[in-house]
Amino acid sequence: MKVSCALYLEVESEQELHTLDWDALPGPVMVLGGGSNLLFTKDFPGTVLHIALRHCERSEEFWTLGAGVVFDDFCAQAAAEGLWGPENLSLIPGECGASAVQNIGAYGVEVKDILADIRAYDRAEGRFVHIDPATCGYGYRTSKFKTEWKGRYIITAVTYRLSREPRPVLDYGGIRKALENRSFGLRPQDDNNCHSEQSEESLTPQVIRDTIIGIRREKLPDPAVTGSAGSFFCNPVVSEEVFRRIEGNPPHYEVAGGIKIPAAWLIEQCGFKGVRLGGAQVYPRQPLVIVNATGKASPQEIIGLEKQVIDAVREKYGITLHPEVEHV
Ligand code: EPU
Repeated sequence: MKVSCALYLEVESEQELHTLDWDALPGPVMVLGGGSNLLFTKDFPGTVLHIALRHCERSEEFWTLGAGVVFDDFCAQAAAEGLWGPENLSLIPGECGASAVQNIGAYGVEVKDILADIRAYDRAEGRFVHIDPATCGYGYRTSKFKTEWKGRYIITAVTYRLSREPRPVLDYGGIRKALENRSFGLRPQDDNNCHSEQSEESLTPQVIRDTIIGIRREKLPDPAVTGSAGSFFCNPVVSEEVFRRIEGNPPHYEVAGGIKIPAAWLIEQCGFKGVRLGGAQVYPRQPLVIVNATGKASPQEIIGLEKQVIDAVREKYGITLHPEVEHV
């Protein structure tokens, strides 16, 4: 289903942002990145701004990229040049500006780990500013850009820090196994659970990127073929007490504030893998994702299926799942 907005503007220079007559724009104003994490549930009455800045200024270590650069193009280029940093974030859809809003993450790395600087237009002050990532309140898929700063800053460029020094992050489940299977020179972990440094020396950012792409292609729908917004839900963090009540020994790990459990596991236990509502479907291979299986799913079908999943998990486990996808 198509939705529309009152006005759509492509911003192609910082100057345009500065001279924009904000009061004349139909409100509210929202900034669109690649749109890959948004669910438009109805027509939007205001202005949608797309920051189409695609410049690139770089030294070896620091790459400053316009907010509209496709994030995976950055990952691909860094890997091709043998630079470490974003390789575990390969194939995440979306653009660089949104990467810093959402603190995108995958396979043990979050973008905050490689952010060096953020340039943004401050609507409150009417000027461009540099924001230190350390002040952005980064957490699991969140930042102040989504909370107390919402609507204030429009990110125009992001500076990432890269490294020539090898720094593979391999501890997220599945990476080592995939590397072994691909015979990329990584030997299995030895008995005392220490991996061989020598074997890791043969790794390159490109090898990790290819491995991550392989893992993602096995589990996640290809956005070019099947519409989805990636993970539809956040993985819930529960207290020790709630965790102990869950039967079936769920996979889990400790994080600040409690124990994180994969929403995918909870959804699977509720029997929702592959369940459909009209054109919307809980993706059979990764039930954390809701797909537009027919290409014709209505927002109501997606929201209806979301509600069914939330209700089922709450009823069985007393845990409330929260969507990761932003509803507009
Ligand atoms: N699992 C099941 N059943 C399934 C699939 C998974 O029980 O059908 C359990 C397994 O135990 C598995 C665990 O869920 O070990 C974790 O699965 P996975 O590694 O696929 O990760 P996830 O927690 O489901 C998160 C991110 C993904 C990211 C992966 C890898 C969130 C909301 N999602 O998913 O991000 O790619 O980790 O790091 O944190 C996205 O944000 O759009 C996204 C895809």
